[in-house]
Amino acid sequence: MDLVPVLSRWAHIASMAFLTGGALFAHLAYLPALDKLPEAEQTKLGDRVADSLRSWIFIAVALLILSGLYNFLNKPMYPPGYHAWFGVKMLAALHIVAVSILLGKTGVPHAKRKRWVAGISLSAILVIGLSAVLRAI
Ligand code: HEM
Repeated sequence: MDLVPVLSRWAHIASMAFLTGGALFAHLAYLPALDKLPEAEQTKLGDRVADSLRSWIFIAVALLILSGLYNFLNKPMYPPGYHAWFGVKMLAALHIVAVSILLGKTGVPHAKRKRWVAGISLSAILVIGLSAVLRAI
């Protein structure tokens, strides 16, 4: 068994699960729970969570891009239409990566965090769907 492709696929699935699962959890459970707190508490707790997550976000983004590039450059052949689907995936993936890095910042108002997280939750569902298409074509 060639270990590198297996490690790359593992790194890709683990890092994307962390970023997309984290966004969906924040969108569906964590941020709605904060709605009930006074505004000052919302930002304070949001900042504490951002402080704990920041380095993990950078690790996940680095692993995701490195493993994604490896997956792409080591693909034996590109079926017709592959690059078009891959291009759309990259646009949504860029959105997820950029906003995930922004979510590691402190001082972001709760309402803005909610909007950002809602946006990347949608992109996450789209990217995973596109990735399934990329594997199937
Ligand atoms: C948040 C962003 C991303 C998500 C959620 C995501 C998700 C996925 C998933 C679920 C797969 C299928 C895994 C499998 O069954 O092996 C996959 C495969 C792949 N991903 Fe990503 N990915 C993301 C970003 C990227 C990036 C940035 C790149 C390139 C730089 C990339 C390149 C690839 C490639 C080449 C494959 C293999 C597809 C194939 O079989 O042809 N991905 N990705």
